[in-house]
Amino acid sequence: MIKLCAINEIPTEGAKGFSLNGKNLVVLNYRNEIYIYENSCPHRSIPLEWQPDQFLDYEKTFIQCATHGALFQIDTGVCISGPCVEDRLNKIPFTISNNEIFVTV
Ligand code: FES
Repeated sequence: MIKLCAINEIPTEGAKGFSLNGKNLVVLNYRNEIYIYENSCPHRSIPLEWQPDQFLDYEKTFIQCATHGALFQIDTGVCISGPCVEDRLNKIPFTISNNEIFVTV
């Protein structure tokens, strides 16, 4: 397990991107839960965001791929709209200790 960040570095109802051991990750703080996915769209295996830390759609209810607009559920990573419907983002295992997030990548 590697320390990624403190929970309070992730904006509430928001997201933040990280690069760790050659992997791009996105960490989300959504409805008081933390979710971590590999930052790679299953459609083309490219990063999801168009600007740093901009991972969500306008209403902040889905993760949105900037390239072709695929929408992913924040809590499951499943694509519900776009060119890769029913594919899912790769979930990254993590633990939280003393308000810090640790991941295995
Ligand atoms: S690369 Fe993400 S929807 Fe096409």
